Amino acid sequence: MDLPKPVRLKDFEPFARRSLPATVYEYYRSGAYPEQTLRDNEHAFQRYRLRPGPLRDVSIRDFRTTLLGHEIAFPVAIAPTALHRLAHSDGELATVRAATSMGTGMVLSTYTSTPMEDVAAAASPNSLLWAQLTAYTDEEAVRRMIRKAEQNGFKAIVVSLDAKMSKRKAGADLIPPHVKFANFEGARSQSFTTVERNANPKLTWDEIDWLSNLTTLPIVLKGVMSGLTARKAMKHRVAGLWVSNHGGRSLDGSLATIDVLSEVVEAARGSNMEVYLDGGVRTGNDVLKALAMGARAVFIGRPVLWGLAYNGQEGVKKVLEIIRDEFSHALGLAECASPSDISQSLVVRDPFHTAKL
Ligand SMILES: Cc1cc2nc3c(=O)[nH]c(=O)nc-3n(C[C@H](O)[C@H](O)[C@H](O)COP(=O)(O)O)c2cc1C
Repeated sequence: MDLPKPVRLKDFEPFARRSLPATVYEYYRSGAYPEQTLRDNEHAFQRYRLRPGPLRDVSIRDFRTTLLGHEIAFPVAIAPTALHRLAHSDGELATVRAATSMGTGMVLSTYTSTPMEDVAAAASPNSLLWAQLTAYTDEEAVRRMIRKAEQNGFKAIVVSLDAKMSKRKAGADLIPPHVKFANFEGARSQSFTTVERNANPKLTWDEIDWLSNLTTLPIVLKGVMSGLTARKAMKHRVAGLWVSNHGGRSLDGSLATIDVLSEVVEAARGSNMEVYLDGGVRTGNDVLKALAMGARAVFIGRPVLWGLAYNGQEGVKKVLEIIRDEFSHALGLAECASPSDISQSLVVRDPFHTAKL
């Protein structure tokens, strides 16, 4: 292909657009109609500006951090996304190997196209591997997934709050026969419409309690978009709050994630809950801004899929290397030698910025 070699995360998408079937590309790319939130997630980072200082020796920078006590090499990990085999024949195995080789973590989607046990076997025992769970009306399916996660060394259960209603997805029912929903092998039909129909629209705090009583693994809530939810979570066994609007694929018109981060961090203050963020994170500067506003780490979704389409495991590794190196650079220029040097005063909202959406 005559496209230049990727040097930024945004450079991977054009390769995927060319190489993937149009339906798959559109399924990965798209957001809930009319995609205001999808656009704003990325754009909103530009509303925040950095204020470096004071002077520090930044010749040696250390970006390790811990997520629920588990060390990762830098504060960027892989968000759960469905069906990696649509992007590359090695699917989730390529993704988890790339994450492991970079010393960071991966959250495996309920809609994985590779069995959980195979993904776990491809990770190293020290890898940070969490299982994302969509709550189902089929309680047995939920029990089975939690059991599998426990038996295979997954270290946390990430419950998605924003996946309780199935939605039409561009191209989603055009899944080729060699790609399967590994957690739903026995499903009547391997279409999104059938598999997602079981998502539980009744999901409330009772179901969260029921789920957390099924396991001793820590519970992370993904899809927290207000301080109110964060405050409610304090009364339940919740170890982490993940600010997310499902990459703009759930409720269109929701605020950009970076715009609600501070509110969630504020509400969680005084609790032991960690706060993470995803949605539109595309540069090392975005990572720095999110950390300055109180996120412990960020997760990336689509760039990983584009990396997979670009070159499987190597492609995902490249995506992770680029964002790690950009973060390292931004950290140094911001006069920080490690994440613990990052303070809230590093970031301000730009009063003159006008959104061009
Ligand atoms: C194609 C695709 C599939 C996704 N599938 C899931 C999923 O199965 N479970 C889930 O919790 N989130 C899912 N997400 C949301 C991601 O976990 C994440 O919140 C989002 O992609 C982050 O935004 P970004 O793509 O801008 O980085 C999906 C996102 C995409 C793009």
